[in-house]
Amino acid sequence: MKTATKRKRKLPPTFGEEYRSAFSAYAQRGGEVALGRAYELGRRAMAEKKSLIEITSLHHQTIQGMLVNAQGGAHLEESLAAASEFLAETLSPYEMAHRGVQDAITALRQLNETLEEEIKRIAYAVHDEAGQLLVAVHLALADVARQLPDSQKEQVGRIEELLNQVEKQLRRYSHELRPTVLDDLGWIPAIRFLAEGVSKRANLTIQIKTTIAGRLPGPTEVALYRIVQEALTNAAKHSKASRVWIRVGRKNRIFCCSIEDDGVGFDVKAVESDCKRRGLGLIGMQERLNAIGGTLSIDSEPGRGTKILIQLPTEASNASSHRAR
Ligand SMILES: Nc1ncnc2c1ncn2[C@@H]1O[C@H](COP(=O)(O)OP(=O)(O)OP(=O)(O)O)[C@@H](O)[C@H]1O
Ligand SMILES: [Mg+2]
Repeated sequence: MKTATKRKRKLPPTFGEEYRSAFSAYAQRGGEVALGRAYELGRRAMAEKKSLIEITSLHHQTIQGMLVNAQGGAHLEESLAAASEFLAETLSPYEMAHRGVQDAITALRQLNETLEEEIKRIAYAVHDEAGQLLVAVHLALADVARQLPDSQKEQVGRIEELLNQVEKQLRRYSHELRPTVLDDLGWIPAIRFLAEGVSKRANLTIQIKTTIAGRLPGPTEVALYRIVQEALTNAAKHSKASRVWIRVGRKNRIFCCSIEDDGVGFDVKAVESDCKRRGLGLIGMQERLNAIGGTLSIDSEPGRGTKILIQLPTEASNASSHRAR
């Protein structure tokens, strides 16, 4: 009769077991190969999304084990030195990734500054050059009108009226593109000005409530203005909403700003994973915030409106709170 023998399958070593074994090999024999295992373990830890706290606590436990098993204090000093080298090598992939992120953030900030300069240039061009062209058109029309019989002068008057509207609208666009009020008075007055324009153009009721006073660092104000601008543009363009609420405040030392609409909402995951539906707006918002150390979350579902939440650590926002204005 055959008897079925169940063989126990050996499980691969856990991260902790591998760490202890590689550490023990390095503490005993040293050498580049053993140190190379520390580096590989660091890379594996990153891939497995282990936190620095998890690694240092594992290292601490490993040293505790080493101290318990240590026979007298003969090699203790060398073992502790080896432990420190081993930990530094394990953490080196994290250090490299951290530097990479810092470099990317610096590059992103420079890119945003260049972008802002370009936006300023376009805003001035729309304001000054288009404005001057319109003045020239007004003068040319006045010339034409002088040579026309009175019965036709009324038509020229209507064209001038339309030109005045074009001029007014262009001025408004150029101010919204890069409001001087943003530099002079700050991002909240700039957003009030922007909301007034969007509200009229898109027939939206926009309510702004803020419990924050004072100015924020320049790049933070510009980034917040651009993010709210895109959120309002999206609300006007896609949401079919009738109301939008912008709320600014602080919660547990975190600066928060939300832009919420009561519109049609959208499937966030579907939009994020579909490159045909994904525009530049949401990505741009995310990148603007990355550059100033903040986070963005989008809460939306079809039929349930959209809420964009911006969060910034207090150091990055650095403004004083006061009662709602
Ligand atoms: N407030 C909103 N209400 C409903 N749908 C929205 C809202 N905001 C964004 N969306 C959806 O998310 C998509 C992506 O938005 P995003 O701003 O990235 O791109 P876009 O507005 O389509 O184009 P772009 O911003 O590049 O001009 C939109 O096409 C729309 O389907
Ligand atoms: Mg958009």
